[in-house]
Amino acid sequence: MANSNDLPQPPSAVTAAKADLNLAQLLESKSLERCPFPIPVGWFFVDFSDSLKAGELRTITLFDQEWVLFRGESGKVGLTDPFCPHLGAHMGHGGCVSGDHLRCPFHHWEYDTEGWCKQVPYGKVAPPIIKKQAVLRALPIQERYGLILAWFHPQHEPPTWELPHIAAMEDEGWTGSRRGSWTASTAIQEITENSVDVAHLKFLHGAPGIPPITAEYEGHIQRFNIGNGYIVGETFGPGSIGTVTFTQEGVSATLFSYTQPITRDKTQMNMSFRHQVYPEGSREQAIARKLIDHMIGAAEGETSAGFESVDFIVWNNKKYRHKPLLCDGDGPVLQFRKWFRQFYVADDATMRKI
Ligand code: FES
Ligand SMILES: [Fe+2]
Repeated sequence: MANSNDLPQPPSAVTAAKADLNLAQLLESKSLERCPFPIPVGWFFVDFSDSLKAGELRTITLFDQEWVLFRGESGKVGLTDPFCPHLGAHMGHGGCVSGDHLRCPFHHWEYDTEGWCKQVPYGKVAPPIIKKQAVLRALPIQERYGLILAWFHPQHEPPTWELPHIAAMEDEGWTGSRRGSWTASTAIQEITENSVDVAHLKFLHGAPGIPPITAEYEGHIQRFNIGNGYIVGETFGPGSIGTVTFTQEGVSATLFSYTQPITRDKTQMNMSFRHQVYPEGSREQAIARKLIDHMIGAAEGETSAGFESVDFIVWNNKKYRHKPLLCDGDGPVLQFRKWFRQFYVADDATMRKI
């Protein structure tokens, strides 16, 4: 990694921080919340495609509530609110998959993967509304990269961006079955913010220096480059889908991340580690494998600690300062936060805290 203390100055970080400082709140942290954020809008990982067989149904917690996840006999996946629009039974407890429908255990009403009521097995007149619209909340679902992904929007708006092509997961010539999951007691924004917080790489992780960073934002995409090409990342949406590629001696390895907001203060980080196929026993293969060990923090002779060993100590205990006290050596934190705000739909009082 390039060791440089010549950080590009975050364009507006210091001036904005000065202008917005709230001295009373700096001195008194009791009024600060750990996680004041709502669940952001975006595409999110639900589960691995191969873990949900046709006819299977389970209850999961995601986006700060319970859902019923099921796969119909034809392979279609549904992710719906668990409580039946009829008399409110929880369909994850005693419900089942019937053909391509979710069947409620209480009176056997049935719903499709879009939330339309397709079957009321008794009574002469069904409620007219069931012919006109879906009556059970169901999230848009896609299966890509071997994952089931759902679009979450608190007001049920349809997707505003497409899932990206991820070469490391979708192209020929890539390999790697290593993956991992870690749970952090914080919100997804706090975790994603680490991508631009280059100072912590030196002081928390013990990297030899503070590397330079550039970060750019375009719509729902963040691109960053740390250490002049050593770490290059792309984040799609609110940190829900992303890649981080480490390159050394011309060899790269990529971490594909798919992070889940379980509740407002609990986030599951999931990662797959991939590299291009190199001949068995080659130098390139050894470098790629070492880079992957390095990402997790398990490489031999490491001088710096991977996220597994140090980031959680901070994430699990910190509070969010929406008016932080920054210095000119910090990465472009405020620019990141400004970009991230687009993923929240919330009332003014909430938006003022984040
Ligand atoms: S409560 Fe679900 S069918 Fe009656
Ligand atoms: Fe970190």
